[in-house]
Amino acid sequence: MDNKKLKNEIEKLKNELNVTIVVHFYQKDEVFDIADFSGDSLQLAQIAAKDKNPYLIFCGVSFMGESVKILDPNKRVFMPKVACCAMAEMIDINYFDKNIQILSDLGINKQDFIPITYINSSAKIKARVGELGGYVCTSSNAKNIIEFALKQNKKILFVPDRCLGQNVAQTMKLKSAIMGESSNDEIKQADVICYNGFCSVHQLFSLEDINFFRKKYPDILIASHPECKPEVCENSDFVGSTSQLINYIQSLPIEQKVAVGTEFNMVNRLREKNTYILSSTKPECPTMNETTLQDVYDTLQSIKNKSFKNEIFVDKDIVKWAKTALDKMMELSKK
Ligand code: 13P
Ligand code: SF4
Repeated sequence: MDNKKLKNEIEKLKNELNVTIVVHFYQKDEVFDIADFSGDSLQLAQIAAKDKNPYLIFCGVSFMGESVKILDPNKRVFMPKVACCAMAEMIDINYFDKNIQILSDLGINKQDFIPITYINSSAKIKARVGELGGYVCTSSNAKNIIEFALKQNKKILFVPDRCLGQNVAQTMKLKSAIMGESSNDEIKQADVICYNGFCSVHQLFSLEDINFFRKKYPDILIASHPECKPEVCENSDFVGSTSQLINYIQSLPIEQKVAVGTEFNMVNRLREKNTYILSSTKPECPTMNETTLQDVYDTLQSIKNKSFKNEIFVDKDIVKWAKTALDKMMELSKK
């Protein structure tokens, strides 16, 4: 079937079966075009949690579908491709516990810190964080969640993205340190202790890229995602989550040049003119790019014939504590 026919069939099937399709901004255009709702990770979690249809198809990476299932365990959630987020895979329970042990050896015990996990993490990590009294955050609310948690006068243990942790600490004028990289003294003195994970896509953007664009177009603005390196964010005119970047860029006059440091598919769709990718290497997230229209169609067919392909399940014991940490974030992010 060609894409036009696939789109028509998808439209018919989703109406017939009462399915909602949500799509992250980084997905391919062909998938983005069939979304009932598109957004960043926080917006999609909020939309999916409120949605009344019995079935939800989530086009994104696995922690996103898992998060919806945790927020509403009764909802039937499907992912056309259960693709991983490379950053989320950088931490598992063993690594998490090992880091807690290292902190304890330095005299920083569980009662001395609040753990916060970026939503880009497995359900098991969210559950461990929930069990320890911590929170989940996304790139759009990380600052608010850290600010709120700091009211308890404890340190923050931030996992898995060192860049998001460092960037928020930097904007709040807090001291940060990175496990496995900073000295013991730096860790002991830090307000925000970051796990040493990162997003390989956002690591592509560099200070050299910024200097290149500023030299070529002296009036250009630089906008970047907080998963970029601290020196990139510090030298950007605007830093924000994917939806915050979209709002910022669309608010600019069309003649204003802007170079953007985030995933290719999203930037490519932003504006026809004067929007540049802040890198000479194409910053594509390989796993976000796995989902195709054919996969969405196959998932809908599997709902119709009740073979239920790629349904997302999360262990009950894990849901309990992961939900505690996620619910706190949802509560703190209510408008
Ligand atoms: P957002 O929270 O901005 O959607 O980012 C998710 C993500 O994976 C960015 O790489
Ligand atoms: Fe994960 Fe990076 Fe892809 Fe976002 S862009 S989903 S953080 S690997």
